Amino acid sequence: MPDTLPDAQAPAGLPTLKPGHAAIVGLQWGDEGKGKVVDLMTAQFDVVARYNGGANAGHSVEVGNKRYALHLIPSGILHESKLNVLGNGVVVDPEQVVKEITGLRDQGLKLAENFLISDRAHVVMPYHKAQDQLQEAAYVMPNAMDQTVEGIGTTGRGIGPCYADKALRSTAVRMTDLLDLDALAHQLHRIVPIKNTTLKALADYTGEAFEPFKVDALLDWLRPLVEVLRPHIADTAPLLHKRIASGQRILFEGANATLLDIDHGTYPYVTSSNCSSLGVHPGTGVAGHHVPNVLGIVKAYQTRVGGGPMPTELHDETGERIREAGREYGTTTGRPRRCGWLDLVALRYTAQISGATGIALMLLDVLAGFEELKVCTAYRIDGRTTDRFPADAKQLEAAEPVYETVPGFTEPVDDCRRFDDLPDNAKAYLAVIEKTIGVPVVLVSVGPRRDQTIVR
Ligand code: IMP
Repeated sequence: MPDTLPDAQAPAGLPTLKPGHAAIVGLQWGDEGKGKVVDLMTAQFDVVARYNGGANAGHSVEVGNKRYALHLIPSGILHESKLNVLGNGVVVDPEQVVKEITGLRDQGLKLAENFLISDRAHVVMPYHKAQDQLQEAAYVMPNAMDQTVEGIGTTGRGIGPCYADKALRSTAVRMTDLLDLDALAHQLHRIVPIKNTTLKALADYTGEAFEPFKVDALLDWLRPLVEVLRPHIADTAPLLHKRIASGQRILFEGANATLLDIDHGTYPYVTSSNCSSLGVHPGTGVAGHHVPNVLGIVKAYQTRVGGGPMPTELHDETGERIREAGREYGTTTGRPRRCGWLDLVALRYTAQISGATGIALMLLDVLAGFEELKVCTAYRIDGRTTDRFPADAKQLEAAEPVYETVPGFTEPVDDCRRFDDLPDNAKAYLAVIEKTIGVPVVLVSVGPRRDQTIVR
């Protein structure tokens, strides 16, 4: 794989950044197209570091005619000379990461010392996935007060239970623990009975089947995985600081997105990590003043997978049309994504929380051909109009979007390569976004390929 982009595929330039490091973060509910932007921007950086999430995220990048699907390994891996890091804030499913390592090697990538996993990162164990499913099943059980309730709709990848064990401490396993399987055996003899007791109780409550986990079987499962992972496990924070001190640049890649942030997202319909750019610092050990650039990734419309409020969701033909045009099906679970008009109330909020200094507007081509486009500029909640993004999921559920309608662009935009090539109505659409959220659009994506990118 070439390290610099071949001219035929490269966009004309890249967004100008302030000196220092940069974070790339989704500003909606995920799947905004971060993978493509990270892949493009990597050319300007020496290191790509992921700071949160696990195999719940998924990104596909297209290079030439090949499509690569990745869940854990940063998309910067496609550039062989760049260091790719999974920071301590990531939760690592060893089987999934080994699958990706093997898959990328099969495609001819070298993948050696250019891929490191923090020894402080937590390990997603098979019982975490079982717990994820049983916890969700238990939560939606009918009871005396509620016959139905909407579940979180997790990806089932064990993310929540793994982060919960991180907070509980006594039942956690970290990457460093994998380096000594004898010591880990002792640890698992303490952890596994506790997990089995909890899981059995959840299984009894829900009527689901449950087979207790056995320490020996877990160790047998881990042994060959550890052999592959061992050379990649390292104390990554000091290594990042060494790179910083030597003048190298780091791109911090956020998984999931700001509306799924455990603290600032649409709680409880969120994931279990700090996916906003605020997570960069605890998730890698690099302090805030190092990162003056935050590129917010935004889809030209809104999508969401899983449960939770989404004020601009469209249950009609328009929503269906967006889903089909944008191929809006989950990379991780294959679930159809819920689609709707762009929500600028949510976007203004997330741009502020993540401190976005520029916006990359993705999938603009999907909106080509609509007679008119709508953007949500306020909510009506309990008869009052507000541009505030509420903390309470019930209020957000009740929010009716107040729309501004703008004329659509009927011409396809996928061949546009310069801002001036865009139809006037597309430019006007971008102008409404910039004016409402007060952050400049510095990059526009008009198709999945690298060259289908406009840089302003
Ligand atoms: P979990 O992260 O598997 O616990 O899922 C919690 C919620 O976050 C669910 O609604 C998921 O669909 C959603 N979610 C987690 N990661 C992503 C992502 O990368 N893209 C979109 N939705 C996600």
